[in-house]
Amino acid sequence: MHVRALELSHYRNYRHLVVNLDPCLNIFVGDNAQGKTNLMESVYLLATGRSHRTFRDTDLISWDGEEAQIKAQVESGMGSFTMRVILARNHRKRFWVGGEELRRQSELLGYVNVVLFCPDDLQLVKGSPSLRRHFIDLCLAQVSKVYRHDLVSYNKVLQQRNNLLKDTVGDRGRADLLSIWDEQLIQYGSQVMHRRALAIELMAKFAAASHSRISGGDEILGMCYQPFYGNMRKVTSSISQEEIAQEFAKALDRNRPQELRRGTTLVGPQRDDIVFEIDGKDARQFASQGQQRTVVLATKLAELEFMREEVGEYPILLLDDVLSELDFSRRSAFLETIGNKVQTLLTTTDRGSFRSTDLMRSQEYTISEGQLISEG
Ligand SMILES: Nc1ncnc2c1ncn2[C@@H]1O[C@H](COP(=O)(O)OP(=O)(O)O)[C@@H](O)[C@H]1O
Ligand SMILES: [Mg+2]
Repeated sequence: MHVRALELSHYRNYRHLVVNLDPCLNIFVGDNAQGKTNLMESVYLLATGRSHRTFRDTDLISWDGEEAQIKAQVESGMGSFTMRVILARNHRKRFWVGGEELRRQSELLGYVNVVLFCPDDLQLVKGSPSLRRHFIDLCLAQVSKVYRHDLVSYNKVLQQRNNLLKDTVGDRGRADLLSIWDEQLIQYGSQVMHRRALAIELMAKFAAASHSRISGGDEILGMCYQPFYGNMRKVTSSISQEEIAQEFAKALDRNRPQELRRGTTLVGPQRDDIVFEIDGKDARQFASQGQQRTVVLATKLAELEFMREEVGEYPILLLDDVLSELDFSRRSAFLETIGNKVQTLLTTTDRGSFRSTDLMRSQEYTISEGQLISEG
């Protein structure tokens, strides 16, 4: 899939921008604070319904504007269609696909899929587990309606169970009510976890392959799902959802007294993690900056392949300011891997850094003060 044309009105520092995109590599060059990340953000928002940088939608509207609009012409296996987002100061966000307005933001996922790699993603290896859960959740939510539904349902049940726990601190009589929620918590939770386990197992294979290609094959990358219960790192496709549900039920039993005391749910997929290993050793502990960068790069490539496996076509790859930091051989290996098969939007302050890798078809743009000043 790819975005053929993008139009921004009063979005961040863009008063009005129209840009035709190449189905392969698009390189946006510009100094700092010119609007390169804003452009990436707009495509991310089109795909996911929100910004990767802020929760406040009004931040996205030009300071002197009342209403921001993102419009795109999309080509995908579903056909050719327009997408439109409107952000207003005094109204909720609105989305249109093919001229029809969506009722809910959650209906947006799946029309345009993206994989974003930005400098903050370097935290993926060593940062908090919530970053890794967000990574797998966004990936799965884009490719699977069932996963979206299970995750939303799980979070609703979790919220209600937490409310009950909070209200019943010190009131043991009402603790029985918990079991009403437990059944659903386990059901949705184990569905979410089983899907994560399968996805990470497949992604791990792709990640190991791309890691060895990028790093020249001297290190082996491992990526394992770590469910909240125990250290069962090597969860494989042979684990059934029933087994996960049993573990979940046991963990709830074990933690019941503590949950009642603390007034919150202590176990569940909201405590899952993903562990990266280099040559069998936990990368959280020892990976250098450079090694982390390569791990994240390999993981993003794995995400591309995984999504392609699931939906039959590649998502759009957004690389914001991350390639210039790579040494030449890794950068070329990376670009060769994506070849001409993935629409890629990348930003850089350094025009020179991509010159010698023009093995692939590409289009170059210069961005200055929220304007496209040259194309090609
Ligand atoms: N809502 C907004 N309205 C107008 N300008 C904005 C808004 N939000 C951010 N900006 C401006 O956008 C610029 C940053 O753009 P960004 O895309 O992050 O730059 P870069 O090219 O370095 O990636 C800054 O100059 C900032 O002041
Ligand atoms: Mg930027």
